[in-house]
Amino acid sequence: MQSDFLVIGSGIAGLSFALRAAEHGTVVILTKGEAIDSNTAWAQGGISAVLNPPLRSDGDNYETHIKDTIDAGAGLCDEGVVRAIIEEGDETIKELVSLGVVFDKEPDDDDRFALGNEGGHSKRRVLHSKDTTGHAIASALIQKAKEHPNITFLEHRFAIDIITTGKLGVVTEDRVLGAYVLDEQSDEVEIFHSDRIVLATGGCGKVYLYTTNPDSSTGDGLAMAWRAGATISNMEFVQFHPTCFYNPAARGAKARSFLVSEAVRGEGGKLINAKGEEFTLDHDPRGSLAPRDIVARAIDHEIKKTGASCVYLDVTHKPKGFMKERFPNIYRTLLGFGLDCEKEPIPVVPAAHYQCGGVNTDANGKTTIRGLFAVGEVACTGLHGANRLASNSLLEGNVVARRALDAMMKSYPPSSPSPSSPKIPEWHIGDATRIDEQVLISHNWDEIRRLMWNYVSIVRTDNRLLRAAHRLRNLRKEVREFYWGFKVNSDILELRNLVTVAALVVDCAIRRKESRGIHYTLDYPERDEKYCKDTELRRF
Ligand code: FAD
Ligand code: SIN
Repeated sequence: MQSDFLVIGSGIAGLSFALRAAEHGTVVILTKGEAIDSNTAWAQGGISAVLNPPLRSDGDNYETHIKDTIDAGAGLCDEGVVRAIIEEGDETIKELVSLGVVFDKEPDDDDRFALGNEGGHSKRRVLHSKDTTGHAIASALIQKAKEHPNITFLEHRFAIDIITTGKLGVVTEDRVLGAYVLDEQSDEVEIFHSDRIVLATGGCGKVYLYTTNPDSSTGDGLAMAWRAGATISNMEFVQFHPTCFYNPAARGAKARSFLVSEAVRGEGGKLINAKGEEFTLDHDPRGSLAPRDIVARAIDHEIKKTGASCVYLDVTHKPKGFMKERFPNIYRTLLGFGLDCEKEPIPVVPAAHYQCGGVNTDANGKTTIRGLFAVGEVACTGLHGANRLASNSLLEGNVVARRALDAMMKSYPPSSPSPSSPKIPEWHIGDATRIDEQVLISHNWDEIRRLMWNYVSIVRTDNRLLRAAHRLRNLRKEVREFYWGFKVNSDILELRNLVTVAALVVDCAIRRKESRGIHYTLDYPERDEKYCKDTELRRF
């Protein structure tokens, strides 16, 4: 199949891009699983934006949001990119509202959006739809994309690899030609042709044993970009969310990964230990509302110090009915697990949440390969630096999608004649047989996620990182054998991507001999200005 624009991923980034691109040409959206399977759909707290700056009476303005973002980013944000993205916040909210997203309003004033607070924000600026903001955004955009006559929306299509001229042996240029894609229902591999590809495949939380992310977050786009030769940056900065519900009895991915939004702390929820002490105050005067890196480390420290399995998020002091009204999904879900959070504190632990690094791009999502753009969590634009400010990622996904389309229309509009291209070979199945040793795959999955959790999580050391690197080298060999030895399916493909992403995280972490933002190592516990630069990895 041929299209002017090929979009891989159906979260906020891919959908925002597709809806705009469809005004200029034909668009194919491919997504593995169902359209709604994305981090976007699981987002809770909301989307940060400064609205109508001159009209605000509480002193919030773009400069304050920019400063908060840069402070959280611990010296590694690109100020030009931060400014470019944050100054489009108002535009983003207007666009989402025009597409049918409903954000909560103040109870006494239907003209004013209700604004929430989260760690690291010095003002209330988080727009939300109760505690299911992501679902409200994803479902509105999916509906519009499915209705659009210029968009072909294909679910259960797993992108395997990006095809470039370079991969086909052309020496004088490197540009994208299309992608190999597995139809998860027919098991056939098809070729999708396009000169403009947007990777919007989200993050890689599943590389860790404990994560807030859905099963789809296996870092596929990052691994594809790496194999295609794009530059990857800052993968050592994996953000751990402080408050994932701790429930050892939970069964199933969704139950294990249930997030209790930071917005709960924004409304007065407090982190306490088993003795009821607000231990985060020993680490930062902002206590429970300090930026995530600080709070997650404080919890890790507390758990190790006391030997407890978890800490607690306490909202029992809030007025009765508050949680049910403001955070109905969290309230109901916890009740389903037998916990009434209005009566008892919520047990929580940190879990892998967000990939701050990614495919290296500019503020327009442009990668180092011609025609390949990366937008959303898969990309490293320079907005987040060494630690993302809460609720900045939905904003980034929408804004960079808009900018990516503008950049493409300037550099390679669909109206320009396509350069002649080498023929793309059909996918070669060879004599590969269907995998019947599923247990080997699940064993490797488990091993990767466990070793990343044990050796490459909130607190690191050189020794742990080197151990992880050593094991990953062996695992990569085994996974390569599966990949070449068997007919592909989504489990093998995800495993292949996970092991690649894990290796990229470890390689970046080994290079950073300092502690900064969310990369914390006992061997170099201080910031070292020598390392005040992005970590960049290039394959060729
Ligand atoms: P995603 O929304 O993850 O979408 C990626 C898409 O790509 C999916 O459809 C996936 O199926 C598809 N895909 C992946 N690989 C392939 C492949 N190989 N082939 C085809 N398709 C593929 N951020 C905020 O700003 N505010 C919040 O309140 C907030 N809350 C969060 C709560 C939770 C529980 C989680 C997990 C994250 C939260 N985040 C929040 C982060 C935010 O949701 C994500 O960073 C953002 O939604 C990423 O959007 P995206 O479009 O880049 O990727
Ligand atoms: C949350 O609701 O706590 C998640 C917010 C985010 O990750 O930006």
